[in-house]
Amino acid sequence: VKADGTKVFDLEMRAGEKEFRSGQRTKTWGFNGDHLGPTLRAERGDKVEVRVRNTLDESSTVHWHGMHLPARMDGGPHQMVRPGATWTPYWKIDQPAATLWYHPHPHGRTEQHVQRGLAGMFLLDDDKSAALPLPKKYGVDDLPVIVQDVKFDGAEFDHGRGLMQNVGFLGDRTMVNGTLDPHREVRDELVRLRLLNASTARTYSFGFDDNRRYTQIATDGGLLERPVQTERLQLSPGERAEIVVRMRAGERTTLRSFPQDNYGDAWNTRFGGADDSFDILQLRAAEALRPSPALPQKLGELEVPDGSDAVRARHFDLKKSGINGRKMAMDRIDETVTRGTTETWTVRNTNGMPHNFHVHDVQFRVLEVNGKIPPPHLRGAKDTVFLPNGTTMKLALRFEGPADPDTPYVYHCHLLYHEDEGMMGQFAVV
Ligand code: C2O
Ligand code: CU
Ligand code: CU
Repeated sequence: VKADGTKVFDLEMRAGEKEFRSGQRTKTWGFNGDHLGPTLRAERGDKVEVRVRNTLDESSTVHWHGMHLPARMDGGPHQMVRPGATWTPYWKIDQPAATLWYHPHPHGRTEQHVQRGLAGMFLLDDDKSAALPLPKKYGVDDLPVIVQDVKFDGAEFDHGRGLMQNVGFLGDRTMVNGTLDPHREVRDELVRLRLLNASTARTYSFGFDDNRRYTQIATDGGLLERPVQTERLQLSPGERAEIVVRMRAGERTTLRSFPQDNYGDAWNTRFGGADDSFDILQLRAAEALRPSPALPQKLGELEVPDGSDAVRARHFDLKKSGINGRKMAMDRIDETVTRGTTETWTVRNTNGMPHNFHVHDVQFRVLEVNGKIPPPHLRGAKDTVFLPNGTTMKLALRFEGPADPDTPYVYHCHLLYHEDEGMMGQFAVV
């Protein structure tokens, strides 16, 4: 903490090695360690500064996914950090409590940099969520769950993509927080899991092996208005959700990913990974559990716009070959939005394969999915949404600025192979 109260974090991008499987070392990248990065945490109203040092032998960036902040601090493809250099973004946290994350964003190489292990969580807190009776003992009844799929090839991660795999790389195993076949002892009746899909291409449908119901309490950008009971929750790359699961003394239950039936045709279902299932994380309850308070019926108030004051409508046609027919160009700003205004963005995928859509700087509201009101799990603050083939979504976004006509933010498909191939565009706030 600096004299003016600014919270300072140090992040160093490093090359390392890690023993994921006994006796076999794999070359990795990490922040401040061999693989993945520390969980950063700040409160609404905090001023933060991150010293990002790059000790790798290539340039990269660090982007704060889900964060509202000035474009120059965003860590997108324009804020490259050269080998040996330190980049020091600073901003003020001005958004609700949420599970955000950070990862590299160098244009054309994001998939590789994330896959090697550069990713971490950035948790935000605020007074309203702190006052709610939710599980909140970090590492005890409030657990980060970073889900990634991997494939090993000797001392390296296998980054290969099958010829048929038009979504990008799909691994044959999953890890949680960098651990294969993970399990976790729990000692509380209610356990909160902060799920982050940090995979490069794979979408998961989360549920438990015994099909128990659990409670979703948050989406990408923070708490839902009220809890949602469910058995399955689909998260595409970049999306987060917080869920609370009730445990019984002495039992075991396994968080799994189940097959998904909304990928469209048999080709995409098979080669896009929708047929696959994985055991993600086993929870093992102690013989005696500490009682947890009942979950509140009312969680938060959404701060996302409802679209009623929208001044402009834009349309985005998602294709692997580019958004609105254009591939990303670093020196072209595709859209210019006005500070302090709300817009609706209609995003459409008729490309015959799954995509998703992520917008930097903002948390948005999903107004419609294929012309209908969205399902409960999408009625929260979102920054990334999954669009299987044949999906159209109407979003409401409010751009708070600050204005910076020269430094754009980006929007893109978060299937990182697609993003790297140019499925990305730029917008500036003026
Ligand atoms: Cu998580 Cu533009 O990224
Ligand atoms: Cu982002
Ligand atoms: Cu895509």
